[in-house]
Amino acid sequence: MSVHLNASEGQIAPTVLLPGDPLRAQHIAQTFFDNPVQHNSVRGMLGYTGTYRGQPVSVQGTGMGIASASIYTHELIHSYGVQTLVRVGTCGSYQTGVHVRDLVLAQAACTDSNVNRIRFQGLDYAPIADFGLLMAAYQRAQAHGFSTHVGNIVSSDTFYQDNPGVMQRWAEYGVLAVEMEAAGLYTIAAKAGVRALTVLTVSDHLITHEETTAEERQTTFNQMIEVALEAALG
Ligand code: ADE
Repeated sequence: MSVHLNASEGQIAPTVLLPGDPLRAQHIAQTFFDNPVQHNSVRGMLGYTGTYRGQPVSVQGTGMGIASASIYTHELIHSYGVQTLVRVGTCGSYQTGVHVRDLVLAQAACTDSNVNRIRFQGLDYAPIADFGLLMAAYQRAQAHGFSTHVGNIVSSDTFYQDNPGVMQRWAEYGVLAVEMEAAGLYTIAAKAGVRALTVLTVSDHLITHEETTAEERQTTFNQMIEVALEAALG
């Protein structure tokens, strides 16, 4: 057990998918895993372990934001020995060529969070994905024919932004999309020497305000999970 997880020792697999929403963790386990067993109930932050194509795998909700996701990332690595962590989530697009329902593989993650400024005493660290995982995810996404973008994203501490000029600045520098956790995941994984990747589907478009149906979003979400599982376990 750790402070925020009540799984017993050995109950969590070495490879874990990390959705922000605990109900998405339940959906992933019920849809993709064979013999899923719930391993966490603390704070309703559901986590499950099962197998995918015969290989052990877990899924653990992280909540929203770097602060919450960092707690689960830290405990999974340091209390349960997790070696491969793949965040699966949604993002808001900053680029006209990155459409709602497309996949975004986060090669790197900028942030407006102060977490790394504090950690590195004012210096700027560049949080990046594990290259092997990134390459595997790209290859799997291409093989399935999914519309996929690889590049920089930004992990923001705020969902509701007061200053639209900041979004414009990130966009000018090629940042593809905004979400809220990847920079924390990449930094913690790097220090521990374990593998991490963030795979996202575009749920909303902050420039064109394109829309999509709930059913279409669910289909794309499931496609993303396939890519994440195949990359992590392949
Ligand atoms: N995740 C999905 N859409 C987002 C947005 N607009 N901002 C931050 N995180 C998001």
